[in-house]
Amino acid sequence: MIIAIDGPAGSGKTTTAREVARRLGIARLDTGAMYRAITLGVLEAGLDPQDSNAVEDLLDSLQVDMEGDRIFLNGKEVTDRIRLSDVTEAVSPVSAMKAVREKMVSLQREIGLKQDCVVDGRDIGTVVFPDADYKFFLVADTRVRAERRLKEQADKGENLSLDEVTRQIEMRDRMDSSRDQSPLKKADDAIEINTSNLTIDQQVQRIIDKVESNPNVT
Ligand code: DC
Repeated sequence: MIIAIDGPAGSGKTTTAREVARRLGIARLDTGAMYRAITLGVLEAGLDPQDSNAVEDLLDSLQVDMEGDRIFLNGKEVTDRIRLSDVTEAVSPVSAMKAVREKMVSLQREIGLKQDCVVDGRDIGTVVFPDADYKFFLVADTRVRAERRLKEQADKGENLSLDEVTRQIEMRDRMDSSRDQSPLKKADDAIEINTSNLTIDQQVQRIIDKVESNPNVT
């Protein structure tokens, strides 16, 4: 069983996906973390994240592994490191590159086909698993999303301003939605959930209710 959860930055995908997976007792795959890990590799190699030829040449030497919610780049754990703002600032151009997406999508399919899985990202219901058993598309007002991101960053010891986070979110929305390769887009058959005024618990419950109302899919 695949449950696809897509949506823009700060829509609540990550927390919701983690909790839905926990409550259903199945695995969870954070595909954004995979693009972040590749981006960290690009930055550590001193490359320009916009330089697709240089990134393409580097790609074969970058190995990404997932172990539950932990992520490794070439054997080194980078779970927390990939959340810092240098990676956040550089991830959109890197994740828009065709070669990067091909490598990540094939790894995502390999992981998802081995087990029941909640998979969150931008193109899960449209491209990675178009036949997913359940598809959800989370949205929320920009202001709400920025406030959530600000809190997340502060919890990680990075103090950004609300304006700075809003700018980052708007820029990523623009790039993620307008790119040629697998743009952020709601699948026609996805259920949209606006999380602006919902608690995490309510978001999770909406998804669980939907899944449990259809017990034939397991
Ligand atoms: O969800 P996130 O903020 O961790 O995602 C990081 C970036 O990766 C985001 O700017 C868009 C990109 N991404 C993507 O292109 N496709 C996915 N399936 C997941 C994330």
